[in-house]
Amino acid sequence: MNVIAKNAQAAKVGADVLVLWLDDKGRFGEALQAVDKASEGYFSARQQAGDLPEAGKWALFHAVEGVKAARVLVLCLSAGEGALRQIAPAVWSQIAEHRWDKCVFALQDVPVSRAARVFVGALYHSAYRFEQFKTISDSDKKAAKWRKKWQGEWLLEKKETQVEQDLAWADALNAGCSLTRDLGNTPPNVCTPRWLAEQAEQLAEQYEDLSVKVLKTKEIKALEMGALLCVAQGSVQEPRFITMSYQPAKAVNKKPVVLVGKGVTFDSGGISIKPADGMDLMKYDMGGAAAVFGAMAAVAKAALPVHVVALIPAVENLPSGAAVKPGDIVRSMSGKTIEILNTDAEGRLILCDALTYAERYEPQAVIDLATLTGACVIALGSPRAGLFGNNAELEQALYLAGEAVHDRVWRMPLDEDYLEMMKSPFADLANASSVREAGAVTAAAFLSQFAQKYDWAHLDIAGVAWQRGGGKGGTGRPVALLLEYFTRLAGKK
Ligand code: BES
Ligand code: MN
Ligand code: ZN
Repeated sequence: MNVIAKNAQAAKVGADVLVLWLDDKGRFGEALQAVDKASEGYFSARQQAGDLPEAGKWALFHAVEGVKAARVLVLCLSAGEGALRQIAPAVWSQIAEHRWDKCVFALQDVPVSRAARVFVGALYHSAYRFEQFKTISDSDKKAAKWRKKWQGEWLLEKKETQVEQDLAWADALNAGCSLTRDLGNTPPNVCTPRWLAEQAEQLAEQYEDLSVKVLKTKEIKALEMGALLCVAQGSVQEPRFITMSYQPAKAVNKKPVVLVGKGVTFDSGGISIKPADGMDLMKYDMGGAAAVFGAMAAVAKAALPVHVVALIPAVENLPSGAAVKPGDIVRSMSGKTIEILNTDAEGRLILCDALTYAERYEPQAVIDLATLTGACVIALGSPRAGLFGNNAELEQALYLAGEAVHDRVWRMPLDEDYLEMMKSPFADLANASSVREAGAVTAAAFLSQFAQKYDWAHLDIAGVAWQRGGGKGGTGRPVALLLEYFTRLAGKK
């Protein structure tokens, strides 16, 4: 599916449905005014009769005289971006239910900055389905086909390059976000480290400037990634270390931005096993990796002139006779030794070796993404991910990117004092603090010890990577934040 810009007049455009708007004070948007005029006051009369929708709602009108479109869908929007984002799922469910092929959105004068990107982005997001593992009926198959080829139109009075850019941005985001959600939703008996590596290879085939390299156990051993390897050793699934590089000829940065994504394809906790309740959700423990995949896809789809490298340590964390156990001491690639106090604190173990590996790129910046701690979920819930780092400017850039696209993060502290809690009497560091307090911060403090040679930010996305409460499913976060960050880095809007 996609939405393209179209120059036309609302009343004269042929369509299965024409989408118009008014505000919560009853004031008509420009297109609704024009259509009202063309229909000799049909909508003013409907307003008199109380037939127009109230805030946040919609109403459908058929065969309005003087209007070429077969139907008119009127939306009532209260002020602000949220109203536009919130109504999109309802609009999409109308479109999909009726299989309207030609849909024209005349929302160009909604007083929301970058309205096309907000609305169309939300429309794509709400149209996402994950049905690969269901036996689906013929009619569902037809619907999926129809959805794929559906094309909407964003109505403009005259050509506006900003709107065209916004639509392209939303399209790139959709490519990335859908990939992230697909990878996360894929069951862990399918989504193994090896399978993830195959997905990277397939992604690289789709984009010319994207290349991939996959390291297997033997090569990971040669690199002496002892922290990563100790997590993998309890599972029959072998680890993979996936590297992707997106390097277009016209890249504005010589030194790459490196993204690191936690790729624990299933986190049982290992010997420090988790409780049974909700353990299935630990298939999403590769959410950081999935977001990195999505960001690479989105950046490549948008053809942004930025050099980005993706590093994905991929493992499965299971208990077995061969598994790492509390008390074990391992040596990380950096040379630092780590005492394993809790085998459920595995994310930081695979990330620390990836952070050391990142040094070889002499990166401009390194950003890691990880469903790292339950403590971060307690601290911030799902509205915002935790943001940590060693460079205020980088943190601010990420914070602002998140604000701009409603994919939000919040800055957390990283004082030396927290590092104290990660000391071990037997090794250079412990992988877990002996107390539960400040769990998201102590995890970040651990990582900071492996990210001292470059500007670094860490996003703890444990609370945002998948839906909480009601439904189940990956959210695609924070791909929007990353795409916006790279768009800004590329000097584009
Ligand atoms: N993948 C989990 C973090 C997690 C838990 C994310 C719940 C989302 C929801 C991580 O590997 C983990 O188990 N962390 C432990 C660390 C602790 C043992 C120091 C945690 O948060 O409890
Ligand atoms: Mn864990
Ligand atoms: Zn984990």
